[in-house]
Amino acid sequence: MCDYYEGGALDEITLVENTTGWERLKLHYRILAGVGTRDTSSTVLGQPVSMPIAVAPTAFHRLACDEGELATARAAKAAGTLFILSALSNTAMEAVFAEAASPRWFQLYIYKDREITLELVRRAEAAGAEAIVLTVDAPGLGTRERDTRNRFRLPDGLAVENLAPLGKGQLPEGQGSSLAAYVRENFKADIGFADLDWLCGSTRLPVVVKGVCRGDDACRAAEYGAKALVVSNHGGRQLDTAPATCEVLPHVVDAAGDLCEIYVDGGIRRGSDVLKAIALGARAVLIGRPVLWGLCVAGEPGATDVLSILRRELDEAMLLCGCTRLSDVSRWLLAP
Ligand code: FNR
Ligand code: LAC
Repeated sequence: MCDYYEGGALDEITLVENTTGWERLKLHYRILAGVGTRDTSSTVLGQPVSMPIAVAPTAFHRLACDEGELATARAAKAAGTLFILSALSNTAMEAVFAEAASPRWFQLYIYKDREITLELVRRAEAAGAEAIVLTVDAPGLGTRERDTRNRFRLPDGLAVENLAPLGKGQLPEGQGSSLAAYVRENFKADIGFADLDWLCGSTRLPVVVKGVCRGDDACRAAEYGAKALVVSNHGGRQLDTAPATCEVLPHVVDAAGDLCEIYVDGGIRRGSDVLKAIALGARAVLIGRPVLWGLCVAGEPGATDVLSILRRELDEAMLLCGCTRLSDVSRWLLAP
């Protein structure tokens, strides 16, 4: 389980560089800025959040603790922040969204079977999801050698719950990673802009495109109807040697920042990293693995702790950088 959560694709170069990229950026703080109380609040797609730090969609939370995604949803609610539920959760979306506060979004993969995909969207709408996050960087699963070696599978009793009523709740048996086999069998490999167009026309909810690496793609996604984009390389789990997200974020912001909101994830481990992302033009960041580690250590309180540590660190970074509110921050903070 640790390997599944922790690991990345192939040589894990992108996995490492996501983190070191943020570490390498330096904060050129201002002095004597008269900062008193800091305000970390913001909005995502018009919905208020207490901080620009959201829970990324990650699969299979019941590998971490018994309460699984219910624990994560409650932790995000306690933090007053955005919760994004993975399509590949171990708990059905209806149960999870009943525990989650607003904003609560649903992450979607496009299945080969249109009806299955549409049914997931319909159920998400009915269950109270307020946006659909379409992940576009996984037309196939990147090879994770740790999962191949371990022959990753879900333990007895755990399933891909959202898909269980649609006959796709079980990971197939066989050689190597059963998740890789599941993705090969079910995800639409030739996903294109026509699929984004179809999705935007099939739901009343705003669509967020997750997995953007380039400015030209960012513009095109916005033209096709995306209301927000996530600059992401899936936490280094898909294309190894894709650039660190901190490197591409400014290019995506320059290309599409006027067209839609832009978020970023990958390797964000400290509140100071969050401030750097905001300085580069992100509206918010998503946190993947640290939330999972919180769940592993102590379930809901563990995930709650991770979010409050990040909040405290962001607040401290703002104080020491001379920033009262997030709108005070821009690229000046990263350059002399
Ligand atoms: C993910 N991620 C992911 N993304 C997605 O859109 N749907 C999913 O089901 C999953 N599942 C998943 C499982 C695990 C174990 C991890 C670590 C990641 C990617 C996730 O949303 C996010 O992009 C990265 O996790 C961000 O990087 P950090 O914060 O983990 O470094
Ligand atoms: C992963 C898939 C499920 O990264 O998104 O494991």
